[in-house]
Amino acid sequence: MEVIIKKNYDEMSKEAAKVVKKRILKKLNLVLGLATGSTPLGLYQELVRMHKEEDLSFKKVKTFNLDEYYGLDPDHPQSYRYFMNANLFSQIDIDLANTHVPDGLAKDIGKYCLEYEEEIEKYGGIDLQVLGIGSDGHIGFNEPGSSLGSRTRIKTLNEQTVADNSRFFKNIDEVPKYAITMGVGTIIDAKEIILLASGKNKSRVVAQAIEGPVTSQITASMLQVHPKVMVILDEDAASLLKKRDYYKFVVESVEKF
Ligand code: F6R
Repeated sequence: MEVIIKKNYDEMSKEAAKVVKKRILKKLNLVLGLATGSTPLGLYQELVRMHKEEDLSFKKVKTFNLDEYYGLDPDHPQSYRYFMNANLFSQIDIDLANTHVPDGLAKDIGKYCLEYEEEIEKYGGIDLQVLGIGSDGHIGFNEPGSSLGSRTRIKTLNEQTVADNSRFFKNIDEVPKYAITMGVGTIIDAKEIILLASGKNKSRVVAQAIEGPVTSQITASMLQVHPKVMVILDEDAASLLKKRDYYKFVVESVEKF
């Protein structure tokens, strides 16, 4: 696990965008796993800038989003499909047919989730997965107690997650209580993963995920077993890491070799 600590949110986002750009330039039909929420917004803005100013093209890129609220129409302003279209897809040259966000209105959920997994496989698996982390340690919507081998399925959201996400809704009662999410096993199958976290309110859970035991109570801790994970943090999110100085030293050393 490579832990990169940047001065602030802006630098964290730019660092992540640099990695995404590099991977796209290496493989034009990259299969990119995407997250929603506040954390990757800066990354998406930077990718849009790179598209407009540096000719970065997404024409052949395929995307798979981690999750979608169950019961929300794709046109609902708080749906993750709406979020992705508004914050990234409509501002770059991606073919919308190449973008996948779980269908929050799927009827036969079991069958639909299997098909989502099959679709990912059809493209050869996810090359690079972008993740945020919930304050309860979730990746995707894999709440505490989720099987570390889980696949795409419907999950009941934790009380903490509903409270955290209520900031996007008029009131807490409007927040959906269920979501369709890739499983921890699905996420871990990605060839490479970038986890982003910013802000003091994430510092405790970041320390648990990176330096604590691997446990289904903090599903992000499962990233410790993956061979190619880059954790990009700002100083605030990194503030409770015991080995911060070592991580910084490693980054400086890597640059030398
Ligand atoms: C979103 C997702 C979630 C978020 C997490 C952090 O697609 O899968 O795991 O990444 O809840 O959300 P923010 O970035 O809003 O703090």
